[in-house]
Amino acid sequence: MNCLGIESTAHTFGISVVDFNGKILSNEIDMFSVKDGGMIPHEVAEHHRKVCDSVLNRALEKAGTKIEDINLISYSHGPGLSPALIVGKDFAKKLSEENKTDIIGVNHCIAHLTIGTLVTSAKDPVYLYVSGVNTQVIALAGGKFRIFGETLDIGLGNALDKFGREAGLGFPAGPLIEKLAKKGKYIELPYTVKGMDVSFAGLVTKTKQLLDSGNSKEDLCFSMQETCFSMLAEVSERAMAHCEKDELILIGGVGANKRLIQMLEKMCSDRNAKFYSVPLEYAGDQAAMIAWQGILEFKAGKRISEVEIYPYERVDDVKVIWE
Ligand code: ATP
Ligand code: FE2
Repeated sequence: MNCLGIESTAHTFGISVVDFNGKILSNEIDMFSVKDGGMIPHEVAEHHRKVCDSVLNRALEKAGTKIEDINLISYSHGPGLSPALIVGKDFAKKLSEENKTDIIGVNHCIAHLTIGTLVTSAKDPVYLYVSGVNTQVIALAGGKFRIFGETLDIGLGNALDKFGREAGLGFPAGPLIEKLAKKGKYIELPYTVKGMDVSFAGLVTKTKQLLDSGNSKEDLCFSMQETCFSMLAEVSERAMAHCEKDELILIGGVGANKRLIQMLEKMCSDRNAKFYSVPLEYAGDQAAMIAWQGILEFKAGKRISEVEIYPYERVDDVKVIWE
């Protein structure tokens, strides 16, 4: 048995084939990109519509299968940009109708979490999910993924990218910030942790001011990383203590950052906990996670009556019915 996953919530259009035991047979993406990083929803949707057939063909070919031999189709039903979500949903619906295949819709953010436990040996971790848009500390408690802490304003990736735009570092700025940070010295920046939540907007404003007053990019990159990552290590540690979990897993595109990994690793080893980070291919948006989440929910008995999108669905809106 196998599942074809379709991802289309934001800039990435992806298709993947995963077998019901969790073996990832293919994982193809095509990303919408513009120089300044701005995403106009209808342009993203147009991109997805243009590339969907070729991404499908690549994914099927790499998996060595044909659309007629697919047993289940899973699509991202949200959260995300509505016009982009509609492209994925309509494509999934068309394929399922043409081939009389079962279809299921899944939550994109939950899929980010469950692919993490598929591709690592983490069992019941606290999840630190840090992407462009999202910054959340999540754990499974009482049958739902609960958000124990989150950003009160922008996601960390967006914060880094905003600073990067001011500093002329291109988009996305995260990788170059990581590189420049290696040559930087520490400058104090606003460290904002409120209970279990964090905030980055004030810090971004401060870095812009410091940049304008002549501080070096390297120093600001270093200080931004040290400050933001410490904030995340603090709230992750508190969530682990509160939930009595001894595993932490890092998910999302910012998880590519080696310094963030190093700080979280240190925090975990100090408290005899295990740290996991998701391989890059599965850290950002892709469709293997959508296929796998579809498989988990399908196996647990979920069937959908309507092929719909849910642009604002949060992880704690979904009841966890799978093992
Ligand atoms: P989502 O819809 O899941 O929120 P997204 O597009 O917002 O997706 P991802 O693709 O998961 O986010 O991650 C992209 C972000 O990761 C960008 O903001 C980018 O700057 C950041 N990033 C990528 N590599 C690094 C790195 N080495 N260090 C820091 N940040 C990084
Ligand atoms: Fe995502």
